[in-house]
Amino acid sequence: MDFLDKRIEDYCLAYSDRESSLLKEINEYTIKNVHQPRMLSGHLQGRFLSMISKIKKPNNILEIGTYTGYSALCMAEGLSKNGKLITIDKDTSLHKKVSEFFRRSKYKNQIVQKLGNAIDILPEIDDVFDLVFIDADKRNYQKYFEIVLPKVNPDGIILVDNVLWSGKVTDLRGNKDDRLTKVMDDFNKFISNLTDVNKMILPIRDGISIIIKNGQ
Ligand SMILES: C[S@@+](CC[C@H](N)C(=O)[O-])C[C@H]1O[C@@H](n2cnc3c(N)ncnc32)[C@H](O)[C@@H]1O
Repeated sequence: MDFLDKRIEDYCLAYSDRESSLLKEINEYTIKNVHQPRMLSGHLQGRFLSMISKIKKPNNILEIGTYTGYSALCMAEGLSKNGKLITIDKDTSLHKKVSEFFRRSKYKNQIVQKLGNAIDILPEIDDVFDLVFIDADKRNYQKYFEIVLPKVNPDGIILVDNVLWSGKVTDLRGNKDDRLTKVMDDFNKFISNLTDVNKMILPIRDGISIIIKNGQ
């Protein structure tokens, strides 16, 4: 489901920042060569991720779900001068090509690519983060959130992708055999009941939650 009328999205894009040539290349490469290109954040959501990062100016960013590197490079645009971005993915088939994209970017010395299952890798990470983007397997969203929240600085931001799940979360009865719709709805309810964070769902692309850890 497209939440935004195509004309509105085109208008927003026409008067927003362009993608860099590298981001454009990654977008085109993904569409031509990679499975499920719909998973890529794309131009409008990419500019949103970049904006949030530029507002926050994070020292440390964590991404769960690198895919072809598009969203990582968008968020890297806001990194502080000596900042670092860690991005995790288990897909071995993409790793080499994505490393190449990162090496060609001006953030090449700031991006750390980790290959493996996020559930195994996350507990080994000691850094504390100012910005986190959760965008991997939906079944583990709540686990990822619970592992990551203690590793987020006060006032740090956690973004979570696909929380509207093509709009299916609004019609659980119509999608009662769809396990992932229920998983996403349960996750949204879990977040909405938390009192130590601020949260809102933004209907950009497939729905993004913005969650801010309360300051001290
Ligand atoms: C939706 S894509 C990420 C898209 C990317 N963030 C972007 O916006 O361009 C999800 C990625 O999560 C990865 N993934 C799924 N389950 C995972 C897991 N348990 N551990 C690490 N990565 C996982 C997949 O291999 C896939 O590349």
